[in-house]
Amino acid sequence: MKAITVEPKKPGSARYEDVPEPDVQEGAVLVEAVAVGVCGTDVEIVEGKYGWAPQGETRLVLGHESLGRVIDPGPNSSLKKGDLVVGIVRRPDPVPCPNCAVGEWDMCRNGQYTERGIKKLHGFMSERWRIEPEYAIKIDPSLGLLGVLLEPATVITKALEHVAVIGRRSFWEPRTVLVTGAGPIGLLAALAAKLHGLDVHVLDRVESGAKPDLVRALGATYHAGSVRELGLEPDAIIECTGVGQVISESIQAIGSCGIVCLTGVGHGGVIPPAACADIAASAVLKNNVIVGSVNANKRHWYKAGNILARADRNWLSRLITRRERPENFKQALERKPDDIKVVIQFAEI
Ligand code: BGC
Repeated sequence: MKAITVEPKKPGSARYEDVPEPDVQEGAVLVEAVAVGVCGTDVEIVEGKYGWAPQGETRLVLGHESLGRVIDPGPNSSLKKGDLVVGIVRRPDPVPCPNCAVGEWDMCRNGQYTERGIKKLHGFMSERWRIEPEYAIKIDPSLGLLGVLLEPATVITKALEHVAVIGRRSFWEPRTVLVTGAGPIGLLAALAAKLHGLDVHVLDRVESGAKPDLVRALGATYHAGSVRELGLEPDAIIECTGVGQVISESIQAIGSCGIVCLTGVGHGGVIPPAACADIAASAVLKNNVIVGSVNANKRHWYKAGNILARADRNWLSRLITRRERPENFKQALERKPDDIKVVIQFAEI
């Protein structure tokens, strides 16, 4: 079968090539790939900045935002042939650490977790893949291709859950949330926050096009410009850019007792003008919490499935701005100005 593979830490090594059929050791459920979403992590892996091949191998099958159709459910699963499924990304560390031991692998303590398509486990960008039944999430069949948005939705579901848990350390009735970045994660954050009944503001650099339209279609407010100039004092900021300047301004703009949740992974960039101690002083004097959030556990996968199932299908479909064939994966990895979510489509749905 064909797969999109890469030699991790070697820039430019990605190719679409023949690989063996998936090993039954990878799970009893055999799945036909329908589509795989592309995200910044995939771009980083292809650029040689991140990623690990499975033990004893040099290449990694890329892809962690999956959608597939069950070919063979295997002997012990409640799945049926034809079911649409999405694969959970992370597996607990083998020790296991206390958090992995209780199924909270997203909070792994020792870093020995593994991740499909990212860290030591083959991903989902292959014509067929296998998965353990307990890591296959069956989706509402009416979602169709939109099921490929489940993985990014889990990331934001976890982030919002953690904000809500942290908020309860004192009186907490949040009203206003600011989302920085109107990419797929930011837009899904805006959707989820809107479903929670919050006054949602989204900030991005672009002034026109699909992003502002999608934000307004949710009944949220769109802003182009800087966090500092907004004049908002939100109860929570969901930071989805990973850009230093946006992060530093967010920490200073957050309301008293508010929470800044960082979900973007950035590198380097311009050093923000505010000194670290000034930023910290602002957080101390306003009782703020700045929290990082990555990945998701099974509870978040379940909740994210409910969010997608409740969302307007037409709105969700506008998030998928481009579909590419697997042989054109290089185009899929290129970021174009109007892109929101690009997917590589392996089979018709
Ligand atoms: C994925 C997460 C993963 C993280 C770090 C993200 O792109 O969505 O599931 O934990 O990368 O590897």
